[in-house]
Amino acid sequence: AMAADRALAMATCTAPVNIAVIKYWGKRDTDLILPINSSLSVTLHQDQLKTTTTAAASRDFTEDRLWLNGAEADVGHPRVQACLREVRRLARKRRGGSGDSATCSLLSYKVHVASENNFPTAAGLASSAAGYACLVSALARLYGVEEELSEVARRGSGSACRSMWGGFVQWQRGERPDGTDSLAHQVAPETHWPELRVLVLVVSGEKKPVTSTAGMQTSVETSPLLKHRAQVVVPERLAQMIQHIQERDFEGFGQLAMRDSNQFHATCLDTFPPIFYLNDLSRHIIALAHRYNAHHGHTKVAYTFDAGPNAVIFALADTVDEFVEVVRRSFPPATNGDQFVRGLPVGSATLPQELVAAVVTEPVPGAVQYILHTKPGPGPQLVDDPSQHLLGADGLPRR
Ligand code: DP6
Repeated sequence: AMAADRALAMATCTAPVNIAVIKYWGKRDTDLILPINSSLSVTLHQDQLKTTTTAAASRDFTEDRLWLNGAEADVGHPRVQACLREVRRLARKRRGGSGDSATCSLLSYKVHVASENNFPTAAGLASSAAGYACLVSALARLYGVEEELSEVARRGSGSACRSMWGGFVQWQRGERPDGTDSLAHQVAPETHWPELRVLVLVVSGEKKPVTSTAGMQTSVETSPLLKHRAQVVVPERLAQMIQHIQERDFEGFGQLAMRDSNQFHATCLDTFPPIFYLNDLSRHIIALAHRYNAHHGHTKVAYTFDAGPNAVIFALADTVDEFVEVVRRSFPPATNGDQFVRGLPVGSATLPQELVAAVVTEPVPGAVQYILHTKPGPGPQLVDDPSQHLLGADGLPRR
């Protein structure tokens, strides 16, 4: 518990990005963020992709304030406020609404929050999931809340509830109108499938033309395919996906991940007016993955795309070196040849002539900015080292 009698209480956490393999798209309640279907994701390792958030409370603060990547942001944002309100509610409930005067006074203080990503926001990697998971984790630490928090993170961004756990995570849609059963839980820990690797192919720094929040609402209102997907397809696929993960069946896992990504983008096309998240380059990568798998005669790589053109590729460790070389040959780096591959180390590979002839068709120089090599990782972490706080003793951002 925090020493609230001191002038300043502070807590810092980190939280991961997640990538869905059974996609969430569509809400049945836009305020509570309740989805029309359950979803399943892989939590990515924080060594490569993470958000760090410091939350502080002090009787000296005169207003709530928020800084994102160094710039002051709107703390009044309804979703930020929902997370703040819900964590505080849990803190009050925990103290039985009385007794602990330290927490009571802490709860009456204004908060300062600073949050930072260790990856460029411009890279278009889903940062809101890690951002809200981290906000909720840091606030919970600040107030000494230890309850299950995916329900609170969900109020920030639907996909954020899945970033509250490591490894393989299911967000159960739930049935209740109040959302108390719309929670994330771990299907398998990050250690379950040690050979699984993830390659993020960053193709564009552009912002998405239609946000997920707006896009999925239009889809709910206009797409009959989305309705069918939520009612019929996803329930079947979820059970299958969980089994593939439990059995570490890459063939099954990869096939289903690709099909589900494609169906999600099909519902976007079925939305009226239609939404396009994939671009020519995304489609080029999809075709490349299929040529590569066809050449090998089985599923060696699997792609998935969210609400943007970046590709996320799943592969087993023994495939990474060769596939990265295939990507390098297909999209020769423009300038930063030395920084083309980032994250976990990638070895060199010599491609057999038949592979090049069959798979590398028309190279597009400079089309892939860089590749980030990572793997499944753990859920939110507490940062113990006080020198890592993003806020200084004055309660203002350090950098
Ligand atoms: C395509 O969680 O960003 O990435 O709940 O409105 O904040 P809101 O949407 P968000 O949507 C994510 C959609 C997706 C698929 C997924 O992550 O499951």
